[in-house]
Amino acid sequence: MAIVRFKGFGEAEVPLGTTLLEAAQKIHAPEGYACGGVCACSTCHLYVLKGADLLSVQEEEEDDILDKAFDVRATSRLGCQSKVEKDGEIEVEITRESLEAFENEHPEHRGKYTNRQHEDLARPTSA
Ligand code: FES
Repeated sequence: MAIVRFKGFGEAEVPLGTTLLEAAQKIHAPEGYACGGVCACSTCHLYVLKGADLLSVQEEEEDDILDKAFDVRATSRLGCQSKVEKDGEIEVEITRESLEAFENEHPEHRGKYTNRQHEDLARPTSA
C-alpha cells in the first residue's frame, strides 16, 4: 500500500497499481479527467512533489499529451497515466488547469477550487 497526499485535499491509501487519478477519485479530490483517463487530454495534469520514484515511468504517449498542457514543469505527470508501483508516500499538487477542468466537468462546483486563496492550498493536508 502507498499513501498519496493531494496538497490541500487530503490523502488516500491505495494498493499498488492504482493511478494517481484513481487515488484522487477515491477521496473526491478535484482532479479533472475530461477524456475519462485514456491519455487523450491533459486535464489530469499534476505536479509530483514527493515520491516520483514510486511511480511508473513516463511513456512517450504521456509525454506527447503533456506537451499540450499549461505550465508544464519537470515534476509534471498525467494522473491517469501515473501508476503507483512501490510502497511509500507520494505527494502531489493538482494543477490549476486540472482544477478548472474539474469545475467545468462538475458545474455545481464552479469556482469552488479555482477561487480558493493560495493559503488554503498551502495548509497541511489531512485525511
Ligand atoms: S484524463 Fe485525459 S489524459 Fe488523463
